Amino acid sequence: MSVPDLRVAVLASGGGSNLQALLDATHDPEAGFSVVLVVSNRADAGALTRAARAGVRTATLREDGQDPGRLLALFAECGADLVVLAGYLKLVPTAVVSAFRGRMLNIHPALLPAFGGPGMYGRKVHQAVLAAGARVSGPTVHVVDEVYDHGRILAQCPVPVAADDTPETLAARVLDAEHRLLPAVVRAWARGGAAAALSLRAAAFGPSLSLPTTFDDALAP
Ligand code: GRF
Repeated sequence: MSVPDLRVAVLASGGGSNLQALLDATHDPEAGFSVVLVVSNRADAGALTRAARAGVRTATLREDGQDPGRLLALFAECGADLVVLAGYLKLVPTAVVSAFRGRMLNIHPALLPAFGGPGMYGRKVHQAVLAAGARVSGPTVHVVDEVYDHGRILAQCPVPVAADDTPETLAARVLDAEHRLLPAVVRAWARGGAAAALSLRAAAFGPSLSLPTTFDDALAP
């Protein structure tokens, strides 16, 4: 008997390119997951358009996102097994975090635990990475708890920072890696939960990695 797909609900506030990466991944019959609901706190979010185009149920929340009863009812109605925050900019109400403890993931566009926390989103994250002189950045997927960008880290994808990067060029390179990392983590989760996601290797995220593999390489002229 085949195992039913993991039912994934997505929360998104913006354009939804990470949602799109998840939707695209579900075209593979071996994906092991389906996106069953997309919820946004912004009625004009591109993510809602992408969901509707894919025939996925959509819903909106009040703009501050503080509507735990509605969120829990929506997740229950669609039988969500896992909630993924894909560019969701509001704090998830504590009652919802509790109900989905260990079953809610977020993608952040930098290597946590640095460059995260309240107010660290969008351009500001990449600006901070550049200001710190970091040589490596890259997305992090972590479990959501009550604190912004704080829960257990499941997977990260290193992305080189170029000497002439602007926040925009770095954001584009990191976003590209996000689009590989997030589906890889959700696929792994569908196969074997958090343990499978934790055992992912960077090789699973595709050919984004062009970092030196040894210090000798790094120091070569
Ligand atoms: C991504 O960089 C994500 O990591 C961050 O917000 C951005 C959302 O992009 N949390 P999109 O809406 O998925 O295109």
